[in-house]
Amino acid sequence: MLDTLGIALIGCGTVGGGVADVLLRHGDRLAARAGRSLALRRVVVRDPAKLRDVPVPADIVSTDHAAAIHDPAVHVVVELMGGTTTAKKVVLDALAAGKHVVTANKALLAEAGHEIFEAARRAERAVCFEAAVAGGVPIIRALGESLAANQVTAIQGILNGTSNFILTAMAERGMTYAAALAEAQRLGYAEADPTLDVDGSDAAHKLAILAQIAFGVTAKPTDISRQGIDTLDAMDIRFADELGYTIKLLAEAWTSGTRNAEPGVRNEKQPDSSGSALRTPHSALGVALHVAPVLLRHTDLLAQVRGAYNAVLVRGDVVGETLYQGPGAGRGPTASSVLADLIDLAVGRAQRTFAAAQLWSKASKGFAIEPPERVRSRFYLRLLVADKPGVLADVTRILADEQISISSVVQHEAAESGGSPVPLVIVTHAAETGRFKLALAKINRLATAAAPAVFFSMGD
Ligand SMILES: NC(=O)c1ccc[n+]([C@@H]2O[C@H](COP(=O)([O-])OP(=O)(O)OC[C@H]3O[C@@H](n4cnc5c(N)ncnc54)[C@H](OP(=O)(O)O)[C@@H]3O)[C@@H](O)[C@H]2O)c1
Repeated sequence: MLDTLGIALIGCGTVGGGVADVLLRHGDRLAARAGRSLALRRVVVRDPAKLRDVPVPADIVSTDHAAAIHDPAVHVVVELMGGTTTAKKVVLDALAAGKHVVTANKALLAEAGHEIFEAARRAERAVCFEAAVAGGVPIIRALGESLAANQVTAIQGILNGTSNFILTAMAERGMTYAAALAEAQRLGYAEADPTLDVDGSDAAHKLAILAQIAFGVTAKPTDISRQGIDTLDAMDIRFADELGYTIKLLAEAWTSGTRNAEPGVRNEKQPDSSGSALRTPHSALGVALHVAPVLLRHTDLLAQVRGAYNAVLVRGDVVGETLYQGPGAGRGPTASSVLADLIDLAVGRAQRTFAAAQLWSKASKGFAIEPPERVRSRFYLRLLVADKPGVLADVTRILADEQISISSVVQHEAAESGGSPVPLVIVTHAAETGRFKLALAKINRLATAAAPAVFFSMGD
């Protein structure tokens, strides 16, 4: 048997506590899977006096990052403290000291991935991060290893369990956004400050990581067009439902022309039997990225993902469509992914995969990020307008001026919204986002517009 793999945990909270617990209680199982023992040598926390529900031996707990990193008996530094300042220093110091790194910190990778991965390549060490996206769902391995023969053409992810919990409560129990959020907080699915979850930032961090693996594009989370669910009105969930759609907060990346390809026609998602999908051209393609509430048909697999679960649908040019689903956060699921990375490092697989993948390197895979205004989509547009003759004609003329054709129009009765103004729901055929937004600005300036227009893109 190989020598023991020595581990330092930096952070022993929700996730770190879960990792320590399994290392301490299931050492034999892990050793059998890894072919060598995994030993918890050091635990670094902010407050060593804090009572913990994991029986970590007191003599290995400290506040001293440097001592843990430079301990010759430590081979892997597991960063589970969160944040991007001290965490970045810990990770870079660990790599410089010749240690492998495991992290669940999506914010850190999304913001400083390039610097961290260059440092790892220089040090000839690996950085593993299965837990950083979708918690217990093995999406990093799926993209980086299991689907390695494919060119991914599209990723659609429900990557934030808090938002999905809120949307499910609004859709299935008719709750308002505020009531659904309060319930999520009471049940521990949402933080006291839920901003990063509900405004799409957390999903954008995760999408930046997935886009890097699948397309080799480096997107800063701030470069990703982002709309959260925090301004969602229950009225739109109801109107979408009447049209046969469910609203989900999706993090999406797709190559040019693979979404809403033909006006009003569903995408061909599976390679056909002649193998034509295997010849999908993908040189110098644009990759569209966004996080937004999207209308999905009720029958779509992702529309059926309920509650706090995460799911990622990946389309590859060889495999067709694959779906990964599971718990996206929490102690056990996230620790499970961190421990899988530790076993991979113990076996020696992670080092080889890391070197081959060249993540966050300057080498281009032939993809570039598509400017958001160039992205084509069908749109759901909901207006609140004065109940007067000629209003619909004004709106359709503005849309026509921007070359946007309409698929359907539903005017809801005034009584439904408690009198004038009335809601008007328009579904468009595929149009460029830039042109759609120009039209929207003109519609909002109409004297008959009683409130700013609300719009969402459609997933089909
Ligand atoms: N929670 C999840 O479900 C989940 C899921 C996926 C990814 N993640 C990611 O995993 C990471 C950890 O999250 P978490 O939920 O486990 O956080 P947490 O419960 O707040 O735990 C953070 C831990 O880090 C320690 N810590 C904080 N600042 C420190 C410092 N300067 N030096 C040393 N230790 C410090 C804390 O020490 P004390 O215990 O002494 O306060 C605590 O043990 C984050 O990057 C998060 O985004 C979390």
